[in-house]
Amino acid sequence: MNPPSASALLGAITAASRNEPDSGIMSAVNHGNGRTDIIPVWSGEGNVPTPEAFCRPAIESLLQGETFYTWQRGIPPLREALARYHERHYGRPFDPENFFVTGGGMQAIQTIIQMIAGAGDEIVLPTPAWPNYAGPMRLSGARPVEVPLDFENGSWHLDLDKLFGAITERTKAIVLNSPSNPLGWTASLDDLKAVRDECRKRGLWIVGDEVYARFYYGGAHETRAPSFLDICDSEEQLLLANTFSKNWAMTGWRVGWLQAPKALGPAIERIIQYNTSGTAAFLQRGCAAALDDGEDFIAEQVKQARANRDLVAQSLRRHPQVRFELPKGAFYMFFAIEGMKDSLATTLSIIDEAKVGFAPGGTFGPGGEGFLRMCYLRDPAKLKEALDRFGTWLETSKPS
Ligand SMILES: Cc1ncc(COP(=O)(O)O)c(C=O)c1O
Repeated sequence: MNPPSASALLGAITAASRNEPDSGIMSAVNHGNGRTDIIPVWSGEGNVPTPEAFCRPAIESLLQGETFYTWQRGIPPLREALARYHERHYGRPFDPENFFVTGGGMQAIQTIIQMIAGAGDEIVLPTPAWPNYAGPMRLSGARPVEVPLDFENGSWHLDLDKLFGAITERTKAIVLNSPSNPLGWTASLDDLKAVRDECRKRGLWIVGDEVYARFYYGGAHETRAPSFLDICDSEEQLLLANTFSKNWAMTGWRVGWLQAPKALGPAIERIIQYNTSGTAAFLQRGCAAALDDGEDFIAEQVKQARANRDLVAQSLRRHPQVRFELPKGAFYMFFAIEGMKDSLATTLSIIDEAKVGFAPGGTFGPGGEGFLRMCYLRDPAKLKEALDRFGTWLETSKPS
């Protein structure tokens, strides 16, 4: 028998898996990956490897034979360390039973979507947003209802009336990512309260993504962004996706967590069982060390990110055709180039011609076209070089 053609094979999978568009971030990465002459600033991660103090307990765990199946919800010492970490930063008691360890923040997001929305359901999502929200929603049959923030007079503004106006009888949740990837826009406590109150009134899930909470450039003594945890009860209709990737430089470890009401424990445990069947115990040992001993490292990373943000802003301000808001959080600069209509084509040209790898704004949904995103949690010398190359490109080329 001749094997079926590629198109026959693609025809035999579900339409959702066949038709889901690529993430534009991955399109940029795939275009430039492996080319050593390029300075990549497309992905959301720093240039510093995971500190040895977090790696050591993982290595020791392996050598001590922690190589068996493990707890579906995560090992108790990590869930206890999560409760301690939250107590330190949010100033009230937390219960380990509200924490579920996942394969990266991404699996926490997947679990949330799987739990709360199916075919025909809607989830309201302010955009520009990380494409890994709308994509998995569509793959699960749910419809992301994307509500663009307004970029007015050089700053991003969330219109709460517009956001709440997008709610229908099919809506299951509002997702709020703050500080935001890609904008760095950060919700005020009043924004969070308004979302909480609307969700309470309409019986909706509040889905919070605060993975960049520690990368917050507020006042001198503020060590995190405003949070749903400041104003919500742990047992209410609140689900929070989080990750070790960003604060502790552990993107490659693929460990995150989901914070949820205790009543959902058995449901979450089932989803994890039928998905990854748990996160490797040795990885979790490293994550517990990061939570308990990671504060100096985080402080250093945030200091570097703030300095880099200012460096990028200073460089981009030299170009009158570039517009942006100085981000309040996260570690991305999201900037518009006058006249740019196709951010993906422009991104690919800049990779080829200037040898700098940005991510195209269009991939972040409505409101994102016309912008590019750069991650600035990088070595400052490399960042300067990337900005110089881009500046020269801007002077000599036209965006698509
Ligand atoms: C807003 C947001 N949420 C969640 C994640 C998940 O991160 P990971 O799957 O690496 O843990 C990311 C990663 O870029 C992100 O930007």
